[in-house]
Amino acid sequence: MKIAIIGSGNVGGALAQQWVKAGHTVLIGAKFPLSDKNINLATKIGEDRFAAIENAVKQSEVILIATPPTAIFEVLEQLGDVSGKILIDATNSVMKTPEPYKTVYHCLADKTNAEVVKCFNTTGFENMLNPSYNGEGIDMFMAGDSDKAKAVAKQLALDCGFDTCIDFGKADKVELLEKFALSWINLAIMQGHGRDMAFKVIRR
Ligand SMILES: NC(=O)c1ccc[n+]([C@@H]2O[C@H](COP(=O)([O-])OP(=O)(O)OC[C@H]3O[C@@H](n4cnc5c(N)ncnc54)[C@H](OP(=O)(O)O)[C@@H]3O)[C@@H](O)[C@H]2O)c1
Repeated sequence: MKIAIIGSGNVGGALAQQWVKAGHTVLIGAKFPLSDKNINLATKIGEDRFAAIENAVKQSEVILIATPPTAIFEVLEQLGDVSGKILIDATNSVMKTPEPYKTVYHCLADKTNAEVVKCFNTTGFENMLNPSYNGEGIDMFMAGDSDKAKAVAKQLALDCGFDTCIDFGKADKVELLEKFALSWINLAIMQGHGRDMAFKVIRR
């Protein structure tokens, strides 16, 4: 797939590395000259994978948003036309909300004609770089109204090494998925379990 990554910090950088490894065409939407963080990322994925945001988006069918939630309005001004493209929202608005919207998903669904899905928000970036625990993949989760976007997000989660990507439900479950992310943050950070922990659904 042709993927543009907007926000190439912890999350965007981890997923960029995974998707490049899986053989996808990844372009990082960046500011020039490149920041030290992006120069470091370039040593891992190659310098030729950086472009201005609008150019990266124009050349891609899938766009990952991995910025602070409140940056979304500035990001939207630079995206250009995203009609019909897949927008994956990996942000969490648990600390800062992109007012007047509850989440970035809601903002993107309202302000664009894209196929939007929330995914890659429920676990730490270290788990995106390495989703394997004792030889078994952990689970990713997604929510939103677009089945097309969910199919793409699921494939991209599998391509990272997640065992599966579980459907949390439609747009009315997006806030619950952010609360689920907050549950991981609570356990990993506030309750001191550490970031090397993850969620997996087991069945019998
Ligand atoms: N950290 C995690 O483990 C984790 C896990 C799941 C979800 N999340 C969510 O994912 C998002 C990113 O988190 P992160 O930890 O990856 O943050 P981060 O390391 O601080 O990276 C944020 C990225 O967004 C870019 N950015 C900031 N403002 C921007 C703007 N106005 N326009 C374009 N790009 C902009 C930054 O570029 P500059 O460096 O040039 O400012 C940077 O590349 C957040 O919403 C967070 O809640 C984080």
